[in-house]
Amino acid sequence: MLNWMDSLRGRSMLRLKSFTDGEMMNLIDLAAQLKARRASGVRGDLLRRRNIALIFEKSSTRTRNSCVVAARDEGGGVEYLTRPDIHFGKKESVKDTARVLGRIYDGILFRGFSQKVCEELAEYSGVPVWNGLTDDYHPTQIFADLLTVKETFGSLEDCTVAYVGDGRNNVANSLMMGCAKCGVRYVCCCPAELSPDAAVLAEASEVAARNGVDIRVFNDPAEGVRGANVLYTDVWVSMGEESKTAERIKLLRPYQINMALMEATGNLGGRLMFLHCLPAFHDANTEVTKECGALEVTDEVFESKYSKVFDEAENRMHTIKALFVSALCDRAAV
Ligand code: CP
Ligand code: NVA
Repeated sequence: MLNWMDSLRGRSMLRLKSFTDGEMMNLIDLAAQLKARRASGVRGDLLRRRNIALIFEKSSTRTRNSCVVAARDEGGGVEYLTRPDIHFGKKESVKDTARVLGRIYDGILFRGFSQKVCEELAEYSGVPVWNGLTDDYHPTQIFADLLTVKETFGSLEDCTVAYVGDGRNNVANSLMMGCAKCGVRYVCCCPAELSPDAAVLAEASEVAARNGVDIRVFNDPAEGVRGANVLYTDVWVSMGEESKTAERIKLLRPYQINMALMEATGNLGGRLMFLHCLPAFHDANTEVTKECGALEVTDEVFESKYSKVFDEAENRMHTIKALFVSALCDRAAV
């Protein structure tokens, strides 16, 4: 019996704030159930006759493929649309495109630059819109992260996540709110120049306090990670910020996650894992790192027993599936 929550039917997810704390926890549990169901060999029809438009303005490996397989697994259809494929924002306003796609599709997942565009799609399409990453937020990622923590540690209770790096990027913003909503302590280790935005921090701190945890910001990574159970990082230069590469590398070098930082948690022999939303610059095998080598995480940590990054990547699919089916599935037909 799947763990439905009727309030989620037809709902968009533009940022984590779109859901109550209970709805968020419920979605993580639904994803775990769908994962177990798939592992038992079931490919169902929870999304039968449902069609989802995938609008991507930025590159993607995990999000795009998770959407495609999540929908196909359950009998749904998807169409991948990039800016050059459609008139979106060029020959046609976002508002008009939203109204057209909303007449044709049952839902829209958007990955792009502007949070405002994502919100406009939801406002005018009349169908659920999911934020698959904007400059400001990456909410679908956080469901996979927290599912991975829950699976690995058995629960989210008494857990501290330390995010180390660019403390004001899309992943950090959503992770901070996701931890707050799920009662997980959040520590941000970043240089002052890359601190969380004051309003985003205040909003998440209020939610954290309601759930009996706190959010703290440190400039010294070794001090900040003390006692942490999860060390999390992301790229130092997000998509669209490529012109800032040299200054970011200079600023964030002291924030690389290496074995010394893992050790500084004091938890090497206890509850400790490494997470990264991926893609990661952990070795010299990419175009970006062939000259400079590893950036935000060393290969030693990335390949260590602490690293759960591929569980996390797989969980993108199960959690996106939970979002799709919770919003679109005709539960009366299940
Ligand atoms: N983590 C993540 O969103 O990966 P992609 O950019 O490959 O979708
Ligand atoms: N912060 C990164 C996340 C990639 C999944 C970016 O926006 O490029």
